[in-house]
Amino acid sequence: MDKFVIRGGNPLVGTVRISGAKNSALPCMAAALLTDETVTLENIPDVRDIETERKLLVAMGAEVELGYGRAHHRTTINCRKLDRAEATYDLVKTMRASTLVLGPLVARTGAARVSLPGGCAIGARPIDLHIKGLEKLGAVVTQEHGYIEAKADRLKGGHILFDKITVTGTEDLLMAAVLGDGETVMENCAREPEVADLANLLIKMGAKIEGVGTSTLKIHGVAKLHGAKHRIIPDRIEAGTFLIAAAMTGGDLIISGCDPQHLGALVQKLNECGVKVKQNGDSIRVMGDNPLTAADVSTEEYPGFPTDMQAQFMALATQADGTSVITENIFENRFMHAQEMVRMGANIKIEGRRAIVRGKTQLSAAAVLASDLRASASLVLAALVADGETIIDRVYHIDRGYERIEEKLRGVGAQIRRIGEMLPRKAQTAQPA
Ligand code: UD1
Repeated sequence: MDKFVIRGGNPLVGTVRISGAKNSALPCMAAALLTDETVTLENIPDVRDIETERKLLVAMGAEVELGYGRAHHRTTINCRKLDRAEATYDLVKTMRASTLVLGPLVARTGAARVSLPGGCAIGARPIDLHIKGLEKLGAVVTQEHGYIEAKADRLKGGHILFDKITVTGTEDLLMAAVLGDGETVMENCAREPEVADLANLLIKMGAKIEGVGTSTLKIHGVAKLHGAKHRIIPDRIEAGTFLIAAAMTGGDLIISGCDPQHLGALVQKLNECGVKVKQNGDSIRVMGDNPLTAADVSTEEYPGFPTDMQAQFMALATQADGTSVITENIFENRFMHAQEMVRMGANIKIEGRRAIVRGKTQLSAAAVLASDLRASASLVLAALVADGETIIDRVYHIDRGYERIEEKLRGVGAQIRRIGEMLPRKAQTAQPA
């Protein structure tokens, strides 16, 4: 298993380029299931979850070509032939977003069999809202042997009011409704930019959707969708992670190829902490020459502060003067990184959904364990300011969602290297399908 070895102390200086958003690329790849024509997606990030999604689609009979480097991070997907409308447990357990194929499969083929995801490192992750919504659209859903089976001759329009805001739930049902017979109104939808990106791709494919970017989506179902070409939006969580890295290390970093509009809540919080941030088109410059001051954070659905930035903000809070209270409202168990940071010398107390961080503490290098994707990123950040050489185990978590983070960090001055028995990730994922 690969590990990162990081020697802390270097400020990050220079320019780093942001990759495409994994959380947008995943639903957009699933959207290709809705048509027998080719869907071409650009700016696909070279991360492990994309490879998992490719495997998922190929197992169903899709033709997927995935090329990086000179192929410009492009994938072409053709789902003319779908002979196995199924997402098996071995794929769903490695990537919960595999459940995103449920809606488009039922809509296109009239049947889908998808493994139930179960719990994960950040708590219970039910898909009850996906199921309830599909039933509202006329699907008959049964559960047996750990699998959900959904059937419908043709989905129909319906009214869906989400009890709780769910990102992939909104995306899954949006993909189901676009081929439904009649009008669907979905209320209390997620407003994350990745949902809007998917909606924009679907519109290019011929879908009729109103209210993109708002919490109410109105869909007029169409009988058929066609192929399209679409460029995936930049990854706001990767951008946010580098923003924090620059602020924590006292660096001067330009984060290019991002969408500053998607980073509003984080930039506002960093300003509150004393970080100087300047926006210029699709770039953000972070000047980390001020001392950091504590600030409270409460995770919320977009446009609030993202839960996917909570762990990284906790790393920053350990370097800020004063007490920061971090409240996690989206997931029930998303503080696994805190204990690892405490092992590095941080002063963090967990009280239910709140983490109380007292700073500033000098972190000292230790051997730590990455427990999930964003937790791993937070440990990399902590290691960048720690005294000595930190070893982070199980970095496969970080490889799920960050494109060659060690190369990008090294490019702006960090001392980080990958050790382990595995082949470099590029060699594993860069082959065409
Ligand atoms: C997506 C993101 C993930 C991010 C999360 C919250 C992708 C691939 N992943 O995950 O990175 O952390 O949004 O911004 O886009 N819930 C239910 N029933 C359901 C569905 C969700 O109770 O049927 C609950 C969840 O347990 C959680 C909350 O709703 O407490 C939000 O989850 P959700 O928005 O669905 O997260 P994901 O879409 O899985």
